[in-house]
Amino acid sequence: MKEELYKLAQQHGTPLFIIDHDRVRENYRTFKRHLPRVQAYYAVKANSNQEIIRTLFAEGASFDVASYNEFMQVYEHIRHFEKNDKDFYIWDKIIFSNTIKDRDTLKKIRQYKPLVTYDNADELKKIKEHCDTAGVVLRLKVPDVGSQVELSSKFGAEPGDAHTLIEQAANLGLVVEGLSFHVGSQCTMFDNYAAALDIVSQVFHDARKRGHNVNIVDIGGGFPVPYDSRVPQFKELARVINSELSRLFPEDIEIIAEPGRFMVATAAVLISEIVGKARRDGKIFYYINDGVYHTFSGVVYDRWIPNFHAFSSGTQAGATEICAVVGPTCDSFDKISLSEQLPADLRIGDYLYTENIGAYSIASSTRFNGFEGAKVLHVNNQTNKE
Ligand SMILES: Cc1ncc(COP(=O)(O)O)c(C=O)c1O
Repeated sequence: MKEELYKLAQQHGTPLFIIDHDRVRENYRTFKRHLPRVQAYYAVKANSNQEIIRTLFAEGASFDVASYNEFMQVYEHIRHFEKNDKDFYIWDKIIFSNTIKDRDTLKKIRQYKPLVTYDNADELKKIKEHCDTAGVVLRLKVPDVGSQVELSSKFGAEPGDAHTLIEQAANLGLVVEGLSFHVGSQCTMFDNYAAALDIVSQVFHDARKRGHNVNIVDIGGGFPVPYDSRVPQFKELARVINSELSRLFPEDIEIIAEPGRFMVATAAVLISEIVGKARRDGKIFYYINDGVYHTFSGVVYDRWIPNFHAFSSGTQAGATEICAVVGPTCDSFDKISLSEQLPADLRIGDYLYTENIGAYSIASSTRFNGFEGAKVLHVNNQTNKE
């Protein structure tokens, strides 16, 4: 694999972001195999590359979109459908999971009768005013402690307010189709899923008793990626979720999820190139042609800890040191890692590679300092078999 990556870097130049679509498919199938009852809505925000959407669309995935633009990226694939099929697809396979939507977005999506989430009364009024065709899903606040990215401080209604928020929706003439939650991204504390399902089931049964035909439980994202061997296995989590689902909910409701990271993190590798080298206070600094303003943006936004590997072990095999790996911009903040065990005698022009970089990386890359960011190369995709 290393040789192949090296050849691709030589052929296409660096920084090079290589997406393996076989891996995207495999991740989707693994998810479906272990959670057969769950309809998987790929969270486009994790990596919005159009080819990834194409691959997952062909696999039969559904989609979680955060904005009108993400919606249109999915819509591209159904534009040619007959009206009824299109309407059905949008209703059945797309969810607007962002609990806060601006008025303009709501006006634009009104014609599509979308399924949207909410977690507060002002949002409900806004939905009623600008997108009264929507079905609504109430997002609840659940424990997210220990996840790599915590979300509950910004999103989710207090479970104690759920009853009022469901009544308010009904009074406005909106139908509460379901309940949702998100345990935080890269959740390795599986008890948090169990606790969340427990909270949701209480609200679910209470709402049904009061005559609301809640029919969807959306278990969000957060499914952990094996970035290192300490990450507990997905199949263990699936076991917990499956057993809690059958214990807490009727068989005939719809269970959906919004996995982002799980589908794409392991499907991409980045090859960067050393463009400068200096010793500062005794430590080697490798300056590479990608950084935290670009493909390594996840170091900032996703609290991600990257890995670096050299292609060669240097000229004196085995002589490694703790080195810093930093980005190409003029900002001193652009330091990717201050402690990477790397060969000490790598040279300008040598390549490094970083695995498992498919999620929350190019999605939040900027053009800061005029650097374009990595070139994206697709392998094993439909249109470009390599
Ligand atoms: C509402 C919502 N759904 C799904 C996701 C995807 O989460 P993950 O990548 O952890 O699966 C996110 C991520 O922030 C989110 O905010």
